[in-house]
Amino acid sequence: MTDIHDNPLDAPNADPFEIAARAAADIARLTGVENHDIALTLGSGWGKAAELIGETIATIPATEVTGFSKPALAGHVGTLRSIRTPGGKNVLVIGARTHYYENHGVRRVVHSVRTAAATGAKIMVLTNGAGGARESWKPGQPVLISDHINLTADSPLEGATFIDLTDLYSTRLRDVARTIDPSLDEGVYTQFRGPHYETPAEVQMAKKMGGDIVGMSTALEAIAAREAGMEILGFSLITNLAAGIQKTPLSHTEVIEAGQAAEPVISALLARVVEAL
Ligand code: HPA
Repeated sequence: MTDIHDNPLDAPNADPFEIAARAAADIARLTGVENHDIALTLGSGWGKAAELIGETIATIPATEVTGFSKPALAGHVGTLRSIRTPGGKNVLVIGARTHYYENHGVRRVVHSVRTAAATGAKIMVLTNGAGGARESWKPGQPVLISDHINLTADSPLEGATFIDLTDLYSTRLRDVARTIDPSLDEGVYTQFRGPHYETPAEVQMAKKMGGDIVGMSTALEAIAAREAGMEILGFSLITNLAAGIQKTPLSHTEVIEAGQAAEPVISALLARVVEAL
């Protein structure tokens, strides 16, 4: 078990890829599933998808897996789950996200993605709950992520590692998602550091820069997934309109409740998309 204050990723000479390989070996041992084909990070509102994707082969606490941190937030599940789809694919469902705002460093933020790649996953599906900066969007609506703006001023890449991010959120996979739901809109995700919500001025800044969605996750994970050679599909659940677009103050409780209300519908959508990947 990895204590929050004792994580091998924090050691000065740690090799994050070697630690991800150890984590993948832990997952194989604990689930009995040697390789996974697809990995799925479930953000707020998306949790029920795990039940709908297929047969759960094993559920393990993330804290049993090398390098994973304890969840910072009650309600964040903290499990890894191996699911077999009806079509016979092995899906690793990651219900244990470490956010950048937790201040444990970007290595811990992207460890789950690197671990997913080390289990063999070729597709990384990243989901989140986020604010919508487009007036036409409604809370409870899922949207595809078409691109991102990373406002954390940080990167999971270490040293002089130059990675192309053109088509980071795969056009091919977005097209697959739209074969399941042609009405899916898409937008540019803007990752803020958080954990405070944005000011209305920051939301306007994001909009002027080309952002449509504001949130506190995903962009750093997507970069690490691309570095690992995975194809990426991103989904945001619009839990609220972003600060200043919606006229009432934002509250975490409302965000959670909007996620819960939308959960059955978007989880069913996600399960159908996963089967089509
Ligand atoms: N901003 C940032 N993160 C969020 C929001 C938001 O409006 N809603 C849910 N997560």
